Amino acid sequence: MTNILPKQYTDAKDFLELWGTDHVEIYVGNAKQSAYYFKTAFGFQEVAYAGLETGVTDRTSYVLQQDKIRLVITSSLVKDSTINEHLNEHGDGVKIVALWVPDATKAFSETTSRGARPYQKPQVIEDTNGKVVTSGIYTYGETIHLFVERDDYKGPFLPGYVARKPQYQPSGVGLKYIDHMVGNVDWGQMNTWVKFYAEVMGFSQIISFDDKDISTEYTALMSKVMSNGNGRIKFPINEPAEGKKRSQIEEYIDFYNGAGVQHLALATDNIIHTIHELRARGVEFLDVPDTYYNDLKDRVGAIEEDMEVLKKYKILVDRDDEGYLLQLFTRPLMDRPTVFIEIIQRKGATSFGKGNFKALFEAIEREQEQRGTL
Ligand code: FE2
Repeated sequence: MTNILPKQYTDAKDFLELWGTDHVEIYVGNAKQSAYYFKTAFGFQEVAYAGLETGVTDRTSYVLQQDKIRLVITSSLVKDSTINEHLNEHGDGVKIVALWVPDATKAFSETTSRGARPYQKPQVIEDTNGKVVTSGIYTYGETIHLFVERDDYKGPFLPGYVARKPQYQPSGVGLKYIDHMVGNVDWGQMNTWVKFYAEVMGFSQIISFDDKDISTEYTALMSKVMSNGNGRIKFPINEPAEGKKRSQIEEYIDFYNGAGVQHLALATDNIIHTIHELRARGVEFLDVPDTYYNDLKDRVGAIEEDMEVLKKYKILVDRDDEGYLLQLFTRPLMDRPTVFIEIIQRKGATSFGKGNFKALFEAIEREQEQRGTL
């Protein structure tokens, strides 16, 4: 592993100022039911809505929020639509990773002048709550970065959406913000997209793993982590590597039909509580063998949590130079083995759990074997 963290913030260019993640939009076959799943299982609150009742005739979107995390769950109401084309190609998946910017017009011109493929020119949308400017560019696959400038807006989400406060509002599970979002790209494409984030968006590379770091007996992958200047946005990018069998990245690429978002890592400040709640609500996690905990203490040293409790909830631990982190990964959320969610609690560590990769991949391989896709 090459860890070049000290250069993290000095390398980043400031032509593209990003204040954070604005929202993540997921295209699904049935937004009403998917929204129910994210509310019930993950404790999101429904805060805004657009659809037939609000004068939108071609799509329905539910805006779900938990602390700083905002998901938009969208499906098409009509036969021929770009949403349905996306669904047919990729299955349910992340279409838009929207970034909160001070100036969406500048974000568009700075990125497109550096080679980004335009998705949407700057556009002003208004309602009685004020004004929002959006613009967008393509990133890997058919995934979009939408730039959202919302200084002058006081509504529940974006113009055109109405506030919602349905009776059914399951309690949260302690999820706070998006820690990072990972993209899987096709064979030989990792460096292309590393270059895209560096040159087009001014990100810098903070960590890289190669197949010697991340491999099991059967499968391997390569990964590089790109971060923006203030460190609020981190996009690791994975590429499959040659192994004896089909890696999980390759499996994703096959089922998603190309590059796309692999997982959202959601941060909590009490992972035991969060995982307890999620498990009780039926969220399925990757299985971790009991043997993982045998040498954990030797590997990570002293930690505040009770090892027996971690073992009970099958929570993973890893340590780096700056501290440790606790994490766990769900099974794919979709029928296709594509998108999943990571739950992460950082206790000083700024890395991504490299020490867990091997144990984790072996767990994934056992599941791939059951799916007949290894
Ligand atoms: Fe992750």
